[in-house]
This record gives sequence, C-alpha cells and structure tokens, in this order.
Amino acid sequence: MKVLVTGCCGYIGSHTCVELLNSGYEVIGIDNFSNSKKEVLDNIGLITNQNMIFYEGDMLDEKFLMSLFRTHSIDCVLDFAAYKAVGESVEKPIEYYTNNVSSVLNLLKVMKKFGCKRLVFSSSATVYGSPKKVPITEEDDTGGTTNPYGTSKLFVEQILKDLYQADSSFAICILRYFNPIGAHKSGLIGENPNGIPANLMPYISKVASKELECLQVFGDDYKTKDGTGVRDYIHVVDLAVGHVKALEKLEKEKKGLFIYNLGTGTGYSVFDLIHTFEKVNHVKINYKIVNRRPGDIAECFSNPAKAKKELGFSCQYSLEDMVRDAWNYEKKNKS
Ligand code: UD1
Repeated sequence: MKVLVTGCCGYIGSHTCVELLNSGYEVIGIDNFSNSKKEVLDNIGLITNQNMIFYEGDMLDEKFLMSLFRTHSIDCVLDFAAYKAVGESVEKPIEYYTNNVSSVLNLLKVMKKFGCKRLVFSSSATVYGSPKKVPITEEDDTGGTTNPYGTSKLFVEQILKDLYQADSSFAICILRYFNPIGAHKSGLIGENPNGIPANLMPYISKVASKELECLQVFGDDYKTKDGTGVRDYIHVVDLAVGHVKALEKLEKEKKGLFIYNLGTGTGYSVFDLIHTFEKVNHVKINYKIVNRRPGDIAECFSNPAKAKKELGFSCQYSLEDMVRDAWNYEKKNKS
C-alpha cells in the first residue's frame, strides 16, 4: 500500500512516517521545509532502518502534485502540511488560509483526478472552540474558533464534509488532535519550533535547558483543580499510531467520512506538567504566575471512547513518558 505523507518532516508527520514504515507501508513523503529540517529524513531512516521516497515541494504547486500522482500510484494521503502557530495566524491570516486551505483544495483536485479517494486529515481540538462541557465528544458543537489557524481547520473539515456529500466514494478520516507532546524515544525526532515556543511543553524544555529563563504560567485563577489550565496531553508516538489505525479503518470500510478525537481522555494542569517534569527529569523549572493568555480556555480534554471502539486505539504512554521523552529530545538537540 502506497501512502503519500504531506509535511513528512514536521513534528507529527515525522513520527507518523516512522510508524507507517514500521507497519510495512510504502511511504512517499513531501515537505517544503518551511518549518522543518532536512536532517529529519536521515533520522527517520536511522530509526526505522528503511528508506522512504521523498520529494521537496509545495502543495500550492499543483503541477508538482500532478507529477507526483502521475509517477506513483498513491492509494491514500495523510495530510499534515500546514502552518500551526496560533499567534502568527492572527498576524498573517492570508498566508494561513492560503497555506492551510488552498493547499488542501489543490490536493483534493489532484486526488480526484487520479482516482485516489482515501484521505486522513490532521485537524485539531481547536475546532471545538470554547467547549460547553468536558470531556469533549465528536458529536459536540464545533465553531467559535478565535484565530485563523483554528478557523482554517474548521474550514477544511467543512470542505471535506461537502466533498463526501458530493461524492460518497471517498473515504475520509478527520483526526482531531488534543495536545501532542513528547518525542520518539531515540531523541532523533521531536518538536523543534522556530523561535520562542508558544506551547507549554517545548517552553518547559527550554527553561529546563536554561535556554529560556522562566516559564510564565498563564493564570492560576481558572476553575480547575489547582487554578491552572487543564489539557489532554498525548504522546506524539501514540498520536502517530492513531494514524495507522485510521488508515486501517479506511482500508476496511472503503468509503465513508469518519471523525475521531485523538487524546488520552485525561486532563492535566500546567502545574501537573511542571511538577512531573521536575520529578521525572530531576531538573528545576523556574516559573512565575502571570495573567491569563487571551483566548485560552480553562479545560479541554477528550472523550476518547469513539476512537477506542471504532479504531481500537488507546494510548500506551503516560505523562511521565511524555516529559521524559521531551527532555531527552531537548538534551540531544539543544540549540
Ligand atoms: C494551543 C492552541 C491550539 C493548538 C494547540 C497545539 C492557543 C490559544 N491554542 O492550544 O489552537 O491547536 O496549541 O498544540 O494558543 N501555558 C502556559 N505558559 C506557556 C504556554 C502555555 O501557562 O508559556 C498554558 C496555557 O495557558 C494552557 C496550557 O499551558 O493552559 C497549554 O497551552 P498550549 O501548549 O499553548 O496549548 P493550548 O492552549 O491547549
């Protein structure tokens, strides 16, 4: 089975390539390196002892996509290629909508032309906006996103629903990620954001390595167990395995539109993360409490029952594993 992985050198794309190769899939990867590094390809090779076919190119380049599908008979696409920085998306909405939405439209056009009708799409729990209740199920309302990044995911979900409505021979799986953290245990691949990280886990790692001085905890007055924000952190390797399960589902069902939450179902607070990181890794995290970050919600965690029932997906890694692997990656890749 030949699968095309877009954004194959990114954080989630690279971990998924490892799981796909280890599961025997033939992987064709593409990336434009807008937010990733070429060495990731070698590291995927080192981890799996296998080679994947790779092309450097951009999904906005329709001719590039056409030549790819002409050269390879691709059975399924896993689409990871997107911009993902929430703050930046507010500054650059045109770039975000172009990169995150137009690229998918290009891909779908070319897929349809070549009769490739299986797609796994990277969506996000951000599509639930400010959830009315937790844990969140797939049937809960979506909408109310507060930034172009989140809205771009919502738009693509709608495009995929409309496409399936028009052509029910497609098999589409939308995966709504909660908060992926951690890294492959080898420390060869992981999260390597450009500039100062906006997300909690990479920020903690950089405070631990003394690259950054102090973590700002955005609010300790939420109605949560300790006042700090609660999220559903999921080990990136578990998340990657979720994609293999999604692919198996599409292979089995042949057609349909499926939506799954990928999370552990357990919420951890900012303090849980800090204290677990300190305990497991024996390092001190300097932090101070500051005001809430605008747009943040108090609690967000999944009900993972649907993915468990329909995909046979459940998470193997604990919060301890997540912080240990994040720190291992940071130490090995200290800039
Ligand atoms: C953020 C995005 C979300 C995106 C997700 C990707 C926002 C508002 N939301 O989610 O759209 O899909 O990343 O993983 O940016 N925190 C601190 N100090 C920090 C950083 C974060 O206290 O320096 C807190 C936050 O207030 C939150 C928790 O840590 O309670 C997690 O934050 P973060 O890692 O940014 O993820 P989300 O806000 O859940």
